[in-house]
Amino acid sequence: MSERTIETVGIVGLGTMGAGIAEVFARNGFTVVGVERDEEGLERGKEHLAHSTGRAVKRGKLSQEEQEALLGRISFATDATALKDVDMVVEAVVESLELKKSILATLDDIVAPETILATNTSSLSVTEISAASKHPGRVVGVHFFNPAPVQKFVEIVRTVVTEPDVLEDAREVVGKLGKSPVVCGDRAGFIANALLFGYLNHAVSMFEGHYATREDIDTAMRLGCGYPMGPLALLDLIGLDTSYEILDTMYRQGRDRLHAPAPILKQMVTAGMLGRKSGRGFYTYE
Ligand code: CAA
Repeated sequence: MSERTIETVGIVGLGTMGAGIAEVFARNGFTVVGVERDEEGLERGKEHLAHSTGRAVKRGKLSQEEQEALLGRISFATDATALKDVDMVVEAVVESLELKKSILATLDDIVAPETILATNTSSLSVTEISAASKHPGRVVGVHFFNPAPVQKFVEIVRTVVTEPDVLEDAREVVGKLGKSPVVCGDRAGFIANALLFGYLNHAVSMFEGHYATREDIDTAMRLGCGYPMGPLALLDLIGLDTSYEILDTMYRQGRDRLHAPAPILKQMVTAGMLGRKSGRGFYTYE
């Protein structure tokens, strides 16, 4: 049993995942400090939060007062020193090992020594990221799924040096968010992405080879297999840039053909077709 009390949480990076994670914490009574590298990033994060909570209000899942209270629990900053008093940080920036390492090294000098440093990485090595900290024992993977406010599952990733109380506290916090945590080891893709991304990549290859239309590929998996959405629609939701990064990382670690990113994926990313967040991916969005 640890002495740590987690009431205030810092979120670094307010993209699709970071903003969703901030919403989940604030919705469950935590005080949240959201950090982005510039004002533009903050604005994007705020818009995401307003949109997502606004939709919950429209659907009658959240009252307007609850929405205001939720958003009132989140403060914003472009300077990481705003995180100095938080009890836990969740880093949710893009899948770049160098960036994640530099953020951890910076946080080391700002937060208290017992503050948990969690990374929401989807495919990078938590162990490698943790090596950037002077206290790698307090680093843990806390991997949410998209959309974070909806998906009930979180992978807690332990490295060989993650301290048991850090693991236990991370698990407890995730439970307080109403999600089911599982603890797993630090391997590429952890559990879910290791199983999911070969399938998604295969769907892209099928589409690229003109074997079937995007609609038919997606319908096959929705109506034939009961998946909530088809693979191409899911890639658009995750983001084609993020998906490419995950596949590329998994491919470089395993060198298996299953994860060698289908060429069209890179081309779409280069062309700015990132999926829902850019308005265009395999499908077009308003
Ligand atoms: N943000 C917040 N809430 C959202 C949302 C979003 N982006 N999208 C949907 N929701 C909410 C809706 O408000 C709605 O809430 P209520 O039931 O409380 O009213 C609920 O989710 C259902 O939404 P819809 O009725 O609009 O649509 P749906 O029933 O088709 O569900 C879905 C949408 C939840 C996205 C569902 O299709 C689904 O679960 N898809 C699969 C998603 C998935 O596989 N995610 C994992 C991706 S892999 C990953 O994230 C790991 C990684 O590292 C990349």
